[in-house]
Amino acid sequence: MIKKVKKLSSGLKGEIVIPSDKSVSHRAVMFSAIANGKCKIENFSSGADCHSTLNIFKQLGVDIEFIDKKTLLMNSDGHLSASNLPLDAGNSGTTTRLISGILAGQEFNSTIIGDESLSKRPMKRIIEPLFLMGAKIESTNGCVPLTIYGSKLHGIDYQSKLASAQVKSCILLAGLKADGQTTYSEPYLSRNHTELLLKYLGADIQSNGTAVTIRPSDLIAKDITIVGDISSAAFFIVAGLVVPNSDFTIKNVGINPTRSGIIDIVKRMGGELNINNERVVSGEKCADIRVCYTETLKGCAIEGEDIPRLIDELPIIAVLASQAEGITTVKNAEDLRNKESDRIKCLVTELSKLGININETADGFIIEGKTNINGGVLLESYHDHRLAMSFYIAGLISKQEIGINGFEWTNISFPEFEELVNLLVE
Ligand code: S3P
Repeated sequence: MIKKVKKLSSGLKGEIVIPSDKSVSHRAVMFSAIANGKCKIENFSSGADCHSTLNIFKQLGVDIEFIDKKTLLMNSDGHLSASNLPLDAGNSGTTTRLISGILAGQEFNSTIIGDESLSKRPMKRIIEPLFLMGAKIESTNGCVPLTIYGSKLHGIDYQSKLASAQVKSCILLAGLKADGQTTYSEPYLSRNHTELLLKYLGADIQSNGTAVTIRPSDLIAKDITIVGDISSAAFFIVAGLVVPNSDFTIKNVGINPTRSGIIDIVKRMGGELNINNERVVSGEKCADIRVCYTETLKGCAIEGEDIPRLIDELPIIAVLASQAEGITTVKNAEDLRNKESDRIKCLVTELSKLGININETADGFIIEGKTNINGGVLLESYHDHRLAMSFYIAGLISKQEIGINGFEWTNISFPEFEELVNLLVE
């Protein structure tokens, strides 16, 4: 589907409530499925990825019932049962990598399949450490389909070269069922939703800097309310900063410090943004964010420990950088090439079509800002939800209308995206 986007003639104003965090939604269902007892999960994501996770746990015998579109009731005795059919993770890397850690220690075998994009994403990063724990996994050249033969696992002490929350979570979930303790350390701290939620549900887990140790534990189900997704809010934060005369509030945004890199970057660039009404919901920090158009943004360097704290926001940060004075460089982000698309290559190709001065590097990109975006072109989303939404925001400030091919892929994480943009248009 081609979506046409036109330049806005006025600023974005008002208030929106940002929908549920995708990372926390996946974990809420997974961890409640392996916990003992009944619970209610409120504000569950309506994105297709989280529904892939949910359907898999139904298939594994867990009792899950929706009481309205975003509220579910779950009932489990903590045990899963085998499925005769493959488990379809759709487009979701988080589903695949996290459930692999759960399935590796079961007493039954499972097969995970996925769509074309997921079938190209690297799984060796989880297969290798799981193998060290005693897991038996067959892959297709290191990708899905994965066949996981349930095995007795033992704890390991693992130093990862990647700062990846998916790999970390996979190993911690395997560690929950392994003999002995498992310690996982990473070069920079990646998002810590797994650690927070496992602790909230009673797991024996301790973090120490960039290392985390887990011992076998039983989880006890507890009601969970999911905060809003800062990765979804990021499109609106950038829209507010770049669309002239904008001034609006984004409510209920998760601001866990391992995810809030976008806020630091906006401040580094001199953007006008205020964090109000900070609170904690089911162990996660959240707040309301007021954002205002800022004419005087400045380019900056984004690298090292910034990267895992904003990895999914880099496409929309590129749009922001195109409107800032001077140069913005992104380094150490080579794993962007392994996302739903090769986000470095695809971003550079498509933003260049808009007239943005962006150059590809091996591990990131360099943008020279203060570009007048020309538009008048058709952009390709490469079946990547975050590229589609980033291009849409660029379209709001393009001189001529733009088209985005494959806009329906936004349903992967954020089906409400365009409806919320329209709410802010006067
Ligand atoms: C996620 C971790 C990140 C992120 C992805 C969600 C998670 O991936 O890009 O969208 O929920 O754990 P990596 O762990 O591969 O960096």
